[in-house]
Amino acid sequence: MKIYYDADITDDAELKAKTIAVLGYGIQGAAQAQCFKDAGYRVVVGLRPEGKSWNQAKQDGMNVMTVAEACQRGDVICMLTPDMTHPQIYAQHVKPNLREGKTLYFSHGFAVTYKLIQPPPGVDVIMVAPKAPGAKVRQAFLHLTDFKNPATSPIPCLVSVAQDASGHALQKALTLAKAMKLTRAGAFECFFDQETHSDLFGEQAVLCGGTTELIKAGFDTLVARGYPPEMAYFEVLHELKLIVDLIQEGGIENMWERVSETARYGGRTRGKALVTPQTRQAMNDLLDAIENGEFAKEWVAEYRAGMTKFNALKEEGQKHPIEIVGSTIRRNMVR
Ligand SMILES: NC(=O)c1ccc[n+]([C@@H]2O[C@H](COP(=O)([O-])OP(=O)(O)OC[C@H]3O[C@@H](n4cnc5c(N)ncnc54)[C@H](OP(=O)(O)O)[C@@H]3O)[C@@H](O)[C@H]2O)c1
Repeated sequence: MKIYYDADITDDAELKAKTIAVLGYGIQGAAQAQCFKDAGYRVVVGLRPEGKSWNQAKQDGMNVMTVAEACQRGDVICMLTPDMTHPQIYAQHVKPNLREGKTLYFSHGFAVTYKLIQPPPGVDVIMVAPKAPGAKVRQAFLHLTDFKNPATSPIPCLVSVAQDASGHALQKALTLAKAMKLTRAGAFECFFDQETHSDLFGEQAVLCGGTTELIKAGFDTLVARGYPPEMAYFEVLHELKLIVDLIQEGGIENMWERVSETARYGGRTRGKALVTPQTRQAMNDLLDAIENGEFAKEWVAEYRAGMTKFNALKEEGQKHPIEIVGSTIRRNMVR
């Protein structure tokens, strides 16, 4: 993969004079709008006047306006509302204001990859996808701006161009990534569909889906065999962060070097019994459904039908005993 760091990037000087319209002031929108503003860009934030983030953005000193107005003003329009809202926001507010020379910016390629929106020729379509939640992006930016701010590791990003009308769309993406200080850790260039597919796979198979099911299965097994839920919580959830920190800092072998010899032998021999050939096949099936658009179709249909299944799964998750015991433990724990 081609990787760009600060020194590799010649800023797109024209961009500095342009207006960046950030649509959405949530997890990514708030962090990215604040970073762009601190980096000297003219930023406007497009929101619903009745929405709860309107006041937050105002309190943070942002120039807040309706989504339509922000789209009129913005030379770069950043789609930082939830992915499922992109088609409607695009059709209603973005498309009528998308003149030639403007740039459409994403932090995830879902809507473009699955053709939920189809930008006209004449506009650049770019992506800067930070590989961390917004709060971490902002924390890293503040730390790298002034080292007195709390330390955290620099955040890398993926950059991509789906449409290069100006001939320098990549330079725009890299300039914006650099403005957020993401190129300290590196901007990794890829295609929109690669980002979309691998991001969905990661969150479904390992990061969010796979890990939470593994945690709950471990907890259920211990509790069903008579172990106190508090002990089960510590063994399969609380300590997970400590292990993941070691893996993130220095890789999987770094973690093995820092756990007991018994953990090393037990983990290396027994872990494989859980991730069986069937598990690997399930991962491939899941990736097939992402690549052939089946998952996207299902998610769009679920969203449009009112998210009954989604909400039922959320309710089921909230009632799981690990959530009940965990909330009490965390509340009483002195940190
Ligand atoms: N979450 C992450 O850390 C992360 C990481 C990498 C990439 N991304 C990508 O970044 C993008 C934004 O994700 P996110 O998680 O930051 O979103 P989010 O926090 O769920 O976005 C919430 C914001 O979107 C606004 N919004 C929601 N529906 C809207 C609508 N119909 N019209 C206008 N505004 C609306 C909300 O305003 P109200 O207050 O009015 O509801 C709020 O300001 C997505 O493409 C996502 O895939 C996210």
